[in-house]
Amino acid sequence: MNPLLRMQAAGVAVVLEFAVGEMPVWRYWGAALAHTPLMDAWPATDLLRMAPGTLDRLAGVPLLACWGNGEPGAPALRAHRAGLDAVQDLRATGFVQTNPHSLVLHLSDEVAAIAVDVSLQLCADSGVLSLHSLLRNTGTADLTVDHQACASVALPPVLQELGSYHGQWSHEFQWTRQPVPMAGWQRDNRTGRSGHEAPPAVFVLARDAGDHQGEAVAAQLAWSGNHRFALDRAEDGRLCLQAGEWLAPGEVVLAPGATLQTPTLHLGWSDAGMNGASARMQQFTRSQVLQWAGGSMRPRPVHLNTWEAVYFNHQADVLFDLARAAAAVGVERFVLDDGWFPARKDDRAGLGDWWPDPAKYPEGLGPLIAHVHSLGMEFGLWVEPEMVNPDSELFRAHPDWALQVAGRALVLGRNQLVLDVARPEVGQYLFDKLHALLTAHPIAYLKWDMNRTFAQAVGLDGRVAMRSQITAWYALLRRLRTAHPQLEIETCASGGGRADLGALRYTQRLWTSDNNDAVSRVTIQSGAARLFPLELMGSHVGPAPAHATGRSQSMDFRCAVACFGHMGVEADVRQLPDTDRATLARWIALYKSLRGVLHTGQFHQGRTEDGLVWWLVQAADRAVLGVFTAQPPNYTYQPPLRLPSLAGTGVWQLRLLASAGQARARGDALDPWGDALRQADGVRVAGGELARMGLPVPVMQPESALLYSFSRVPGSEG
Ligand code: GLA
Repeated sequence: MNPLLRMQAAGVAVVLEFAVGEMPVWRYWGAALAHTPLMDAWPATDLLRMAPGTLDRLAGVPLLACWGNGEPGAPALRAHRAGLDAVQDLRATGFVQTNPHSLVLHLSDEVAAIAVDVSLQLCADSGVLSLHSLLRNTGTADLTVDHQACASVALPPVLQELGSYHGQWSHEFQWTRQPVPMAGWQRDNRTGRSGHEAPPAVFVLARDAGDHQGEAVAAQLAWSGNHRFALDRAEDGRLCLQAGEWLAPGEVVLAPGATLQTPTLHLGWSDAGMNGASARMQQFTRSQVLQWAGGSMRPRPVHLNTWEAVYFNHQADVLFDLARAAAAVGVERFVLDDGWFPARKDDRAGLGDWWPDPAKYPEGLGPLIAHVHSLGMEFGLWVEPEMVNPDSELFRAHPDWALQVAGRALVLGRNQLVLDVARPEVGQYLFDKLHALLTAHPIAYLKWDMNRTFAQAVGLDGRVAMRSQITAWYALLRRLRTAHPQLEIETCASGGGRADLGALRYTQRLWTSDNNDAVSRVTIQSGAARLFPLELMGSHVGPAPAHATGRSQSMDFRCAVACFGHMGVEADVRQLPDTDRATLARWIALYKSLRGVLHTGQFHQGRTEDGLVWWLVQAADRAVLGVFTAQPPNYTYQPPLRLPSLAGTGVWQLRLLASAGQARARGDALDPWGDALRQADGVRVAGGELARMGLPVPVMQPESALLYSFSRVPGSEG
């Protein structure tokens, strides 16, 4: 019997079968198992029968499918030496298990002269499985790599549905669920950034899986550039997940001895539905991905972002007044968006010239920053360092710094080009300019934008320079954070176009969407919250009508939605009606009192047949619940809202903290339940009652919201 390699943590087990001279195969991935006599005694091959018309050998699902050995699944590796050595057949040579949670398997093919190490890590506290592979060219000639997946991952066979994202500017994180087609499913992203259209994440689900129950896997690739996700259905019917970078032709050529490491694929398995899989990923993100200044997150400060308040029209007196008005409603960080550098009166000029516009800021940024500080706020600044406008001093001095194909016309996007950041002199220029700003001023935060997709992204050597761009971006972020350890950075790309676990290693916030319409935001934030903890999701109260959609919602509704994230304001606070300003201030104060729970608790979401959406954040002794409607209800009776995650959590004191819109009732009708919930002590409820019977909620009109808080009654746990 071949040895079984096992990892077990946080209720999850992974078992591989290993033998020197064979490709390691998957035996099991799922709920922790106390005993495994079947697996211990029976090798994978003994449990299979040879199918007619197939090769004369048997194998389980390989850890890294190699098409060269006749494996029926999609190849996890495609590489060659000018057409030679293309038939690879990797076999295990050994493994290293340094601790119960990490494994490295060594594979090699001496004939094709390649070696691959596949690394697996099972996170001790979240149970998230992380995989990557490292390819080495052990030959004497260059090896061209066309594709390399992190690994091939055998999916529990019950998983036959796919949850994936699509979207565009202002319409991010749109969720679709569909059966995995007979022929499998594949999606490539070639935009050069993780993208609105296809963020690097999928869910694979059992047919009966829902938000709260059933088997589910959440998969996220920690990479901000091109990628390929595949649910490969081999011709024998087995379903296998593969993810990795999408490489352009000739983009990676390994010299003898050189290596290529894939990004890491993170996988959260759960039998508690999509919320269960998300919870694992979010816990993992909090404990393993994020790198906070000083080692831990401080309360997420309320932002005022100037974009929708003034756009490019920066006038000192207006900005000074805006800062005053922002501070008065409780804003804690004032972020100066696009428009502060030379020639930037619109989006046609200026990118690349990272110093203050002497016309708009004759004394530099110092006076505004000092003013913001005097109001008790931090200062943040918008930048888009990887870009250059042809109409800029930088481009006039260094036209060859932009990615381009010699002999072809430049391809513009938002009037700008992409700099070849991987060139040392370009990376150094950007570091110097940003370092100078950060050294000259107390700037707590950069909103780091990236507003176009790539085209003709070719470097000086004539090769496609897309993956090198991402690694250079990471290196630049790392360098800046090392030089300025207190600095926080937001990842933004025309809204949520570069939100992924690769970027979040170096950044502390993602700009979820340029769409601040609160009805749109319920869907966008529900989608994003399947992937990311709430404290990372920038969510701003925008103007009415919303600039992205032209629709208007009440200030209460806009605030209720914005509370569930890293809250901010994206409006000209000076111009708000007094009543709206007072409402905004009240909600900001409420957010401050709740953020301790919102940003540390476990997030659950659900929706009812009648279109109600709810978000529950549950911490040990407190919880916060938001209930939202976008559409008119179909019936005059709203069934109680079941909150399954509260089962077995003891007794809670429940209060209705705030509401937006209307709960339908006759004007003179009594509402003893609502009245009791609004009292300072609220109402006693048991978690089990809310999980099984449900929380009685009123019939809500469209664009209504209810915000509840739960405090655990001491000694009532369990
Ligand atoms: C992008 C961002 C916006 C804003 C503008 C500025 O579109 O997503 O929030 O910063 O750029 O040009």
